[in-house]
Amino acid sequence: MTQRTLIIVKPDGMQRHLAGELISRFEKKGFKLAAAKFMQITEQLARKHYHIHEGKPFFEGVVKYISSSPSFVMVWEAEGVIEMSRKMMGATFGYEAQPGTIRGDYSCSRGYNLIHGSDSEQSAEYEIGLYFSPDEIVSYDFADSDWLYGKND
Ligand code: RTP
Ligand code: MG
Repeated sequence: MTQRTLIIVKPDGMQRHLAGELISRFEKKGFKLAAAKFMQITEQLARKHYHIHEGKPFFEGVVKYISSSPSFVMVWEAEGVIEMSRKMMGATFGYEAQPGTIRGDYSCSRGYNLIHGSDSEQSAEYEIGLYFSPDEIVSYDFADSDWLYGKND
């Protein structure tokens, strides 16, 4: 079943001129872009986004970080996109993430880790709803979908 996830190129990704590089990984993987918005996330929206972490020692820091400068917010679509994109992002902290992953290849920081991706269907639904109205999410077919998603069984 087709699934959607919220992916954000965070402020450090934009400031470090990595947006195209990071987005192209999802594009080349074969995910389908369903919505996109370049915006500065407000502190209020950041608090809602990371509400699950409220009360944890890093909560104020992550709210400040994500709202500090513009981000590129996207919805990507594919069967199994949530798990695949989390694997492509790598472990939370750049210095722990495996080489070959986005964070492993481009970050050696603890707090600044370039990218956000929803971690479950429930959080994807919640997060997509925070950033996009239903009419901003586009449905369409890829002309090469048989080649992208083909099975040989
Ligand atoms: P994200 O939600 O941004 O995709 O990251 P994640 O799932 O890999 O990590 P999560 O546990 O959801 O944490 C959200 C963000 O908070 C910061 N963080 N700092 N200092 C710390 O111990 C700590 N733990 C988390 C990170 O910026 C992380 O992306
Ligand atoms: Mg998370």
